[in-house]
Amino acid sequence: MTDAVHPRIRPRRLRATPAMRRLVTETRVSPAELILPLFVREAIIEPIAISSMPGVMQHSLDSLRRVVAEAASLGIGGVMLFGVPERKDAIGSGATDPNGILNVATRVAVSEAGDAIVVQTDLCLDEFTDHGHCGVLDAAGRVDNDASLLRYRDMALAQADAGSELLGLSGMMDGQVAAVRDALDGAGRADTAILAYSAKYASAFYGPFREAVQSSLEGDRRTYQLDPANRRAGLREMLLDIEEGADVVMVKPAMSYLDVLADAAAVSTVPVWAYQVSGEYAMIEAAAANGWIDRERAILEAMTSIRRAGADAVLSYFALELAGLLT
Ligand code: PBG
Repeated sequence: MTDAVHPRIRPRRLRATPAMRRLVTETRVSPAELILPLFVREAIIEPIAISSMPGVMQHSLDSLRRVVAEAASLGIGGVMLFGVPERKDAIGSGATDPNGILNVATRVAVSEAGDAIVVQTDLCLDEFTDHGHCGVLDAAGRVDNDASLLRYRDMALAQADAGSELLGLSGMMDGQVAAVRDALDGAGRADTAILAYSAKYASAFYGPFREAVQSSLEGDRRTYQLDPANRRAGLREMLLDIEEGADVVMVKPAMSYLDVLADAAAVSTVPVWAYQVSGEYAMIEAAAANGWIDRERAILEAMTSIRRAGADAVLSYFALELAGLLT
């Protein structure tokens, strides 16, 4: 009898029963490594639905308090807060105002469940600028890298004062990690950690997020976010951020960039996270609403793939639901 007719090596043995499959699983997903992104809008009393992200809300301070408590009780590892201010200006003043919506929301989240869940904040100017860019502009209308760093330093101190434990630097300015680390250390905030959105690509998959934060952006972010065609550039940004002192690095979006994620996971000396972004969420919801895919299986499979590629933790709008499915 030859192997050609009766194989001697049979990998299917390990797939034969649910118990065996469970035992040989290489990748597990649990609530502890999920981070729930939350949008908090200034001056609203009731949460407002985001049409391009079914099931996701702009929160009021009251509903924020409830959802943070729920996330903590489900064992979710963290929340990432985004502010949606009433008024915007050229320098994004609301970002550094202690009474700006993001800083107020941070205090609320920390007071609700700061011991049980890691409260994190988006450190970027785009939600607060009237031109919608992640930095401030120079006289010619270009994003001014070094002037933006000065704003980030102030924003970092405002967020640390509000109680944020982990600052999510998502602006893709050169030198932003070193600048923010220096500002924090100089102000006696050595304990505040930095999550660098290191390999952040200029992606079409951020589409629904722009509605979620009522973005005023015209044009695009290609002078600062990475070209989707470039894998090596992602790794370079990652290594630079680690050198500058990032405590955690991130790849974003997740599913179209699993190669970049795997590269980073192979060499990073700090945790590597990934962000399953708004468009990734919206695609699953839209296909499921049409009956074209099995929603729960798709949610689990997407998350498992991101973890398998090397993400230690994942930001996901599905975090609450996943936590429910997993427990
Ligand atoms: C910038 C920021 C963006 C996202 C997170 N932080 C938008 C952008 O860079 O255009 C996108 C997140 C998502 O799409 O879910 N503050």
